Amino acid sequence: MNIDKLINLTQDIELYEKGTGVMWTDEYISGQLLKAHIDSSNDLASRNGASIEQAVDWIAGEFGRSGGAVLDIGCGPGLYTERLAAKGYSVTGVDFSENSIEYAKNSAKEKQLNIEYFCMDYLMLDFHDKADLIIMIYCDFCVMSSSERDILLQNIYRALKPGGKFIFDVQNETAFKCAKDEKSWEFSSGGFWQAEPYLLLTSKQLYKERKIVLNQHIVIDEENECTTYHFWEHFYNEGDIKSILESNGFANVKSCGNFLINNEFRNENGITFYRVTK
Ligand SMILES: C[S@@+](CC[C@H](N)C(=O)[O-])C[C@H]1O[C@@H](n2cnc3c(N)ncnc32)[C@H](O)[C@@H]1O
Repeated sequence: MNIDKLINLTQDIELYEKGTGVMWTDEYISGQLLKAHIDSSNDLASRNGASIEQAVDWIAGEFGRSGGAVLDIGCGPGLYTERLAAKGYSVTGVDFSENSIEYAKNSAKEKQLNIEYFCMDYLMLDFHDKADLIIMIYCDFCVMSSSERDILLQNIYRALKPGGKFIFDVQNETAFKCAKDEKSWEFSSGGFWQAEPYLLLTSKQLYKERKIVLNQHIVIDEENECTTYHFWEHFYNEGDIKSILESNGFANVKSCGNFLINNEFRNENGITFYRVTK
């Protein structure tokens, strides 16, 4: 094992530096993630089933109209799209995980729900005047760099019809106050990160002035090959969201607090939902 190489991988990481692997689209890991998404008893890749039910009811109430076109960005295997379609909305889902989109398409077919799915990167989204409501749920808004976030917001703005709404959730400053620098390791004979044996080195590094955290996972295989996965998380207060959304053309930025209960995985006090209008 090259210890110097490992030290270099973990130190002085520049803000938004990418890892060498992408968890969501990796053929093996995305299969593991799909299992986590559709297990309604946990909050790993999607929130638990009860929270999703609650969120969908709340979203429909905030949207405040029956019917209409809804676009779910980062829709995963369709846990929100299906529930919204069952409520009578005309729904489209976008995600870049082939595994999740394939599952979502098959599931909609089985349930005879008419949902349109696209397997694509939401940073490349090029819809015009398509949706009355766009949702992005489970804090995906927090994982992008600031330039990616602006690209996404422009894509969302273009895809919304005039007066359309965008609903999303973010990690707030309460969550940031709970975040700590951490390091841990784990051996596995085959598990979440790969089917073969591996050593996993995990760390959480705080960039305090920027309210940003890097979650780094280094997977080392039996040949000593390292794959790094970087998850950047931003934590936003209401002022941050207002200024970011308004500078991207949105109006009526409304902080809706948090209505979720029973969430064991995340500190849900640390989550705030927002609704904004084009
Ligand atoms: C935390 S999961 C949430 C899934 C879903 N919103 C839910 O709550 O059940 C994030 C989802 O965003 C997708 N995703 C991440 N980055 C993406 C990108 N650049 N383009 C499209 N989908 C992306 C992942 O594949 C994953 O399905």
